Amino acid sequence: MSRTPFIAGNWKMYKTQADAEMFISGLLPQVSSSEGVDVAICVPFTDLQAMVDSTRGSRVQVFAQNMHHAAEGAFTGEVSAPMLTELDVHGVVLGHSERRQFFGETDRELALKVPAALAAGLVPILCVGETESEREAGETERKLRHQVQEGLEQVPRERLAEVVVAYEPIWAIGTGKVATPDQAQEACAFVRALVAGIDADAAQAVRVQYGGSVKPDNAAELLALPDVDGALVGGAALDPGSFAKIVEAARA
Ligand code: 13P
Repeated sequence: MSRTPFIAGNWKMYKTQADAEMFISGLLPQVSSSEGVDVAICVPFTDLQAMVDSTRGSRVQVFAQNMHHAAEGAFTGEVSAPMLTELDVHGVVLGHSERRQFFGETDRELALKVPAALAAGLVPILCVGETESEREAGETERKLRHQVQEGLEQVPRERLAEVVVAYEPIWAIGTGKVATPDQAQEACAFVRALVAGIDADAAQAVRVQYGGSVKPDNAAELLALPDVDGALVGGAALDPGSFAKIVEAARA
């Protein structure tokens, strides 16, 4: 099965609206001919409307970086899926390790968020990955099994193929220490096998991204791996030139 490569840039808490407009005017001409690759920017809430407007008619999709599982409620400071879809946001990053580490996000919450995103019409990118000490202790598969199984637990089978899973080893995020091709392939194949444990057909369709210090000079090697269907890019997605080079690497 051929899966469309998916390159997503996670801006994290970077870029005011003015910065975002500058970025997008630099990016659009560089990715206008990137057929065969899905491209997304995952932006702070305050940039969503401006980026949806500025990317309309282009090949760049706009994603949020978090949402609450409920459609509405007394949850001060939170944003819901219907609030995102009203803006024409395409999808949402869920369970990023920074949200797990700094904001106490749990697999329990993700079990509610992933199906809520799908039900609202958003493409969820479910982030999973182990810490350095978990890898050293031989705990990588156990951690991934727990995160993937719980995150997908309440997803209706017929919608499973629409979920994107991003394998992001925490020790590779923002460190410049990228996973080796063998490590990335092994973990992404394991994630796919976990999906196959729920539904074999969905596993062939589901896209698994690698994330963690993806840069223009290592992207091609990672993206060529059989079970790596794209990348979730942090630092290198803040500059339109380097992000466009990673998109270009996915076309090869
Ligand atoms: P870096 O590409 O900066 O390592 O960040 C990866 C990441 O966390 C993307 O979500």
